[in-house]
Amino acid sequence: MKQNITLSPTRRVVLGTSLAAGAAATLVACGQGKSSDAIPSATGTEYDATDLSKLPVLGTTSVTVNGHNYLLYRPDEKTVLAYTSVCTHQGCKVGTGDSKNFICPCHGSEYSKLDGSVTQGPAPKPLTRYAASIEGDKVKIYL
Ligand code: FES
Repeated sequence: MKQNITLSPTRRVVLGTSLAAGAAATLVACGQGKSSDAIPSATGTEYDATDLSKLPVLGTTSVTVNGHNYLLYRPDEKTVLAYTSVCTHQGCKVGTGDSKNFICPCHGSEYSKLDGSVTQGPAPKPLTRYAASIEGDKVKIYL
């Protein structure tokens, strides 16, 4: 299910996305393609991205936060991964894709939902990752 939501920042500060970071670090360590340069930390401004009920386990959604579009993927109960939707090839808006990859409709680039790495070109670089977390019934993103 795809949705677009625009929301304002909140005041709460939240620590860590250890599960997401650990999963991405594992993938990078195993050499399964290039991931984003660094595991994001929750040090940016916190925004409500969506209601948790709109992002089931193994679900993907597209949200607009602070005027920009992001892709969210929830690999398990406690983890949400967030990426820009801007394709690294020529800047098209990457879609929610299939069960494993985000897919760009312009030239067919595909990116892993687990770490944003390129799984099919022509995209030259991974999608930029952002910290995200689940807080109660909300999904937060840190920009
Ligand atoms: Fe996305 Fe070309 S702009 S594949």
